[in-house]
Amino acid sequence: MDAVAAGWMSVAAELSHAPAHVPVLVDEVLAYLAPRPGAVIVDATVGEGGHAEALLRRIAPAGRLVGLDRDADAVRAAEERLRRFGRNAIVCQASFAELADVLDGLGVGAVDGVLFDLGLSTRQLLDPARGFSFERAGPLDMRLDRAQATTAADLVNKLSEHELADLIYRYGEERASRRIARQILARRPLRTTRDLARAVEAARGGPRGRIHPATRTFQALRIAVNRELEALERGLPQAIERLRPGGRLCVIAFHSLEDRIVKQTLAQYSRGCTCPPELPECRCGGRRLLRVLTKRPVTPTPEEVRRNPRARSARLRAAERLGTGEPRRSQVARETESP
Ligand SMILES: C[S@@+](CC[C@H](N)C(=O)[O-])C[C@H]1O[C@@H](n2cnc3c(N)ncnc32)[C@H](O)[C@@H]1O
Repeated sequence: MDAVAAGWMSVAAELSHAPAHVPVLVDEVLAYLAPRPGAVIVDATVGEGGHAEALLRRIAPAGRLVGLDRDADAVRAAEERLRRFGRNAIVCQASFAELADVLDGLGVGAVDGVLFDLGLSTRQLLDPARGFSFERAGPLDMRLDRAQATTAADLVNKLSEHELADLIYRYGEERASRRIARQILARRPLRTTRDLARAVEAARGGPRGRIHPATRTFQALRIAVNRELEALERGLPQAIERLRPGGRLCVIAFHSLEDRIVKQTLAQYSRGCTCPPELPECRCGGRRLLRVLTKRPVTPTPEEVRRNPRARSARLRAAERLGTGEPRRSQVARETESP
């Protein structure tokens, strides 16, 4: 075993004592999802099962929770934690982009609530072998599902300078993306998180202030490796369609790209048909399926951020499912016209 591998293994051993993931905004999630005994809830990002456990306690003894996660380690951790709920807790390794298929496979129809708690768990972030953190020396991996072929090393070592700059700009909102891409190209092949952090530092300068200069580049690569935004764009509509009338959706986002998709999707499903009123029938297909419950995103209290600094950037949005879709406006107008 080489020295680097031995180093990673010793940090990995330390990690088994690392603090477990602390779920964020738990009281707020319970307040908005309002789970009742007997309810069927989907935790689309079950992680280590913190939210799931709190939800299962509320829906017990007959309620059921289906938990999904792309990460096999997370699935094992959640299964372990939720074992005492027996068959009322089902955990599957799957992406929420396949939410409808997973529920169909389990014979689950309409549900009472769906939670998405996006991003990474503390353990994923702190595990050097996963390669998510510029603060931990590890391989440039960043895959949530390790059966997937493409790693962060593949992207940094194979994309063109232009493609890399574009990716870092788009998914990291990083203004120095071109300079960073140039430094990456000059240092290829990059193998470790340290190699990438050094390339970014060469382009942007060393750490200054609270936010490390490599934060945005690491975020960009992680999003690209796991196609996180596409998964969210696919998963949210499936969750909305699965809710029964009165069912609730809660989404916790940790950066503006995710939050923008959440906000726009909720707005789209709460708007309904947008065809001009003079059209005899709807052409846009828009149905009003949601009532948004959070005018602005809900953020953690200063007390929660003090206890759990990772909660700092969390933003929760929630919505309630309406009936099968509001009739189009012209029809409403005709029906409410005075005789
Ligand atoms: C912030 S953690 C969730 C923590 C969890 N709520 C808890 O209380 O332990 C986010 C989880 O989402 C998972 N994840 C990310 N993208 C996913 C996707 N497309 N489908 C399913 N799980 C995903 C990650 O693997 C990670 O375990």
